[in-house]
Order: sequence, then C-alpha cells, then structure tokens
Amino acid sequence: MTNLRSRVIGLGSHLPPRIVTNEDLTEFMDTSDEWIVQRTGIRERRWVEGVTSTSDLAVEASQRALDSAGLAAQDLDMIFLATLSPDHFFPGSAVFLQRKLGLAGIPAIDVRQQCTGFIYALSIADQYIRTGSAEKILVVGSEVHSKGLEKSTRGRDVTVLFGDGAGAVILEATGVTDPDRESHLLSTHLYTDGAFAEELWVPAVSTAYDEDIVDQRMLDRGDQYPKMNGRQVFVHAVKRMPEAVEAALEQNNYQVNDVDLFVFHQANLRINEAVAHRLGAPEEKVFNTIHKYANTTAATIPIGLDEAVQAGMLEAGMLVASAAFGSGFTWGSALLRW
Ligand code: UT7
Repeated sequence: MTNLRSRVIGLGSHLPPRIVTNEDLTEFMDTSDEWIVQRTGIRERRWVEGVTSTSDLAVEASQRALDSAGLAAQDLDMIFLATLSPDHFFPGSAVFLQRKLGLAGIPAIDVRQQCTGFIYALSIADQYIRTGSAEKILVVGSEVHSKGLEKSTRGRDVTVLFGDGAGAVILEATGVTDPDRESHLLSTHLYTDGAFAEELWVPAVSTAYDEDIVDQRMLDRGDQYPKMNGRQVFVHAVKRMPEAVEAALEQNNYQVNDVDLFVFHQANLRINEAVAHRLGAPEEKVFNTIHKYANTTAATIPIGLDEAVQAGMLEAGMLVASAAFGSGFTWGSALLRW
C-alpha cells in the first residue's frame, strides 16, 4: 500500500557573517572563554548587523532551500516559520518572509514553540501533507537573538548561549511503499508542560500585567530580556530528549543502533553528550554545530541538517533522529529516512 508522506527535497541555511567570539563578550560582561567553553562547548556565535531581521535571515535560508530543490517560491503551497524572535509583535514574521519571497495568497504561519519550534513546524506541515491538503511546504527556523540579549554581567548566564541564524527545508508529498528505504519523515512526537513556563521566558512586553504592554518599570527590571533557570532546563532536557527519541524509535520499530545520525537541538554540548550517553548512542553519530553558532533556537536543527550534508555526514538512505527541548517547556522528536 502506498502511504502519503513528507520528504525533504530542499535544504538551506544562512548565518550572518559577523563572528562574535567568547573573548569579544568579555568586553561588556564579566565572563571568560574558559567558563563558556567548559560549561557549554560554545566558542563563537554569529550576530547580525544593522537592520537585519529574523525574516531577512529566513529569506536567505529559504532561497537556498528552494534552489537546492530546483523550485521557485511560486511552487510552494504553504509556509511555516518557527521563531521566538519575531520581526514585530504582530503580524507574524512568516508574513514578512512571504512578502520577501515575492509571494501572495498562500498561507504563511508562525510557530511559537521556541527551541522545539522547528520540530513543531515540521510536524504541523507533515499533517497537511499526509492528508493531501498540500504538496510542497517551506518550513523555516530563524532567529535574531543578538538584539534581545542583555549585554551586561546581569544577563551573562543567558547572553553567552545564543546566536543568530536560519535554516530551511522544503517538504514534498511522496508515496511511500518501502519505509525502510525510501526518503521520508517517519514520525514526529510533540510534548509540552506549561508548569515550567517561567523557567525560561521573556516576561515583557506583556498583556499579563496591569495596563500597558510595556512601561518604564518593566524596562527598569529588564523584563524585556530572557530569564532562565539554567539548572532546571538542563535537568529536564537530558531526560526529555532521550524519551522523545525512544518514543520515535519504538513507534517505528527501530533500535538506537539503527540510527545513522543524531541531529539534536544545540543548546549546550554537555546536554547533547548526556542525551547520547542516556540513549547509548556513540558520540561520533551526534552532529553538533554549537561550538561555532551557539544556540540559534528554532534554527539549530535545519542548520545542523544542512551542515551535516555539506560535511558528507548525511547521505541518502540514512536514518536520522532529531530531538529538541526548550522554553515552555516544550520538547519533541522527529525521525527521518534521508
Ligand atoms: O534551548 C534551551 C536553552 N537553554 C538551555 O538549554 C540551558 C540549559 N542550562 C545550561 O546549559 C547550564 O545550566 C548553563 C550553561 C546555563 C549554566 O551552567 P551551570 O553549570 O548550571 O552553571 P550555574 O548556573 O550553576 O552557575 C555557576 C556559576 C555561578 O556563580 P556562583 O554562584 O557559583 O558564584 C554563576 O553566577 O557560574 C556563574 N556564571 C557565569 N560565570 C561566567 C553564570 N553565567 C556565567 C558566565 N560567565 N556567562
């Protein structure tokens, strides 16, 4: 029997050219290259310059994905853009991405699931393809963190972790008869636990306070900057990511050993080492980019896929497991036959 499934036919990423090293950060906060490398594995990250926005990075990655698929933007049926750093409070950034791609008419939808945003967007897009509602969908993760970070010692625990970047895939509907061989997205698993919403969040701008969505008191408190309980996030991430991968493997009757490459979210090298250890996966099968790009949130997974292909580590026919964890808390996994 032929089942309608999604398959990745295009892939692209874009990192802004400006490199910010750990040493560069010491110019405006009390931190050190040694602390950042030891605790996170991060050596440098990219920061945008000037007026560059999240949708600007997204359009570059999208165009590369379209080029690699041999498609024009006009061939797309839908757009999903995952981001926690939108161009504006509203409308969503997918609207600006659509306009910059020279398109009108097709649905352009923002997904706001932070570090798990790309897996959520992939999952939603996959449902449209499985039901035959769409044939070609652009799924993008894009972030400009640098403009929203507190660049002083007060914000150092968060600021050193994040970078800017974008990654994109094009999904196409495909009929799958042999799931062990043919390229397709096997499954996605999504989870949320809002009990932990304030463990990693940006308190303002906000409709949850008395009157205005932003006032001087919020700015004085620094509510516009991300706040994180790093320990809490770490402890949950190393538990939830392996669970999500195991759920994917179990549903599809595979073992950890069957996976050829793990392309995890990039929050902390120590998190990914612990996840691999808990799964019993060899570290050489885990593809990381955190040392050079830090955490680009919704963009880490498509950037990782793109770089793994460029590095010759991801080839047709491989089984790829992906998982992410972050603010919400949200977490999830995706299993793909590449
Ligand atoms: O996508 C999801 C996003 N976030 C995450 O996944 C983050 C998960 N958490 C982590 O990666 C880790 O918890 C961190 C890397 C954020 C922190 O590592 P840690 O080993 O948990 O350190 P800590 O928060 O317990 O802080 C240890 C010390 C503290 O000083 P004292 O109290 O021991 O004197 C901090 O003030 O390190 C200090 N510190 C820093 N020192 C230099 C915190 N940030 C910095 C910094 N540079 N940037």
